[in-house]
Amino acid sequence: MRVAEKVAIVTGGLSGIGAGVAARLARDGMIVVAADISTQSMELDRTLGIHPFHVDVADHDSVASLVRAVMATCGRVDCLVHCAGVGRVLPFLETPLGTFDLVLKTNLHGNFSVGQACARVMAAAGHGAIVNIGSVSGLRGNAVRAAYGASKGAIVTLTEVMAVELAEHGVRAASAQPSSRKLEHQRCAAVASAAGGFCRDPKNKELFLDQGLRRSQLD
Ligand SMILES: NC(=O)c1ccc[n+]([C@@H]2O[C@H](COP(=O)([O-])OP(=O)(O)OC[C@H]3O[C@@H](n4cnc5c(N)ncnc54)[C@H](O)[C@@H]3O)[C@@H](O)[C@H]2O)c1
Repeated sequence: MRVAEKVAIVTGGLSGIGAGVAARLARDGMIVVAADISTQSMELDRTLGIHPFHVDVADHDSVASLVRAVMATCGRVDCLVHCAGVGRVLPFLETPLGTFDLVLKTNLHGNFSVGQACARVMAAAGHGAIVNIGSVSGLRGNAVRAAYGASKGAIVTLTEVMAVELAEHGVRAASAQPSSRKLEHQRCAAVASAAGGFCRDPKNKELFLDQGLRRSQLD
C-alpha cells in the first residue's frame, strides 16, 4: 500500500512533539488527524492538510468518538502516535492525590483508551503501528516527578503488553522515552545528593529551584 493511502492519528498533535510528528507524517504523504484537547492550533501547519480533531484522551467516550469519526471518514487507522500528556512538577511529599489522579488519568488511562480503540480497528484490518510516547522519567526515579514518572513507567509496561498481544494480529507497538538536557542535569544532581553532596553545583541548585523545590530544601 502506498503511504499516501494511510491514515495516522496523532494525539497531542497540536503542539510540541505531537505537532512535529504530525507534520512529518503529513509530509510523508499520510492523512493525519491531530487529536488534541486544546482548541488552539498555533503549531499546526495548515499547509500540510492536517485535520485537527477535539478529543479528551482521559474521557473514554471522547476517545471512542474520535476513532468512530476517523473510521467513518477514512475507513481505516494505520498508525497511532500517542503524544498527549500532562506533567506536574511537585515533590513527592507535596503531591496531592487529586494531582496524582489527574496525571494518571490523562497519561496512563488516556494511553490505554486510545491504544485499545485504535488497536481494535487495526487488529480487525490485520495491520497497524502504534507508538506511545513515554519519558525517561518512566525509566528511573527523577525528583519531583512522582505522578508523571509513575504514569510514564506504566506506559512502558502497557506498551510491552500491547506489543506481545497484538503481534499475532499484525499490529506493532513500541514506546519511545524522550529525555531532555534538563532532566540529565537533574539526575546528576539526584545522584550527587544521594552520595551526600546535596546540590553543591550551583547549576543544579538553580535547576531544582526551577523545578519548584523550595530554596530551604537545597541548603
Ligand atoms: N518535551 C520533552 O522534553 C519531553 C520529554 C519526555 C517526554 N515527553 C512526552 O512527550 C509528549 C509530548 O510532550 P510535549 O513536550 O510535546 O508537550 P506539549 O504540552 O507541547 O504537548 C502535549 C499535548 O497534549 C495535549 N493534551 C494534554 N492533555 C490532553 C488530553 N486530556 N486529551 C488530549 N490532548 C491532551 C495538549 O493540549 C498538548 O497539545 C508528552 O507525553 C510528554 O510527557 C516530552
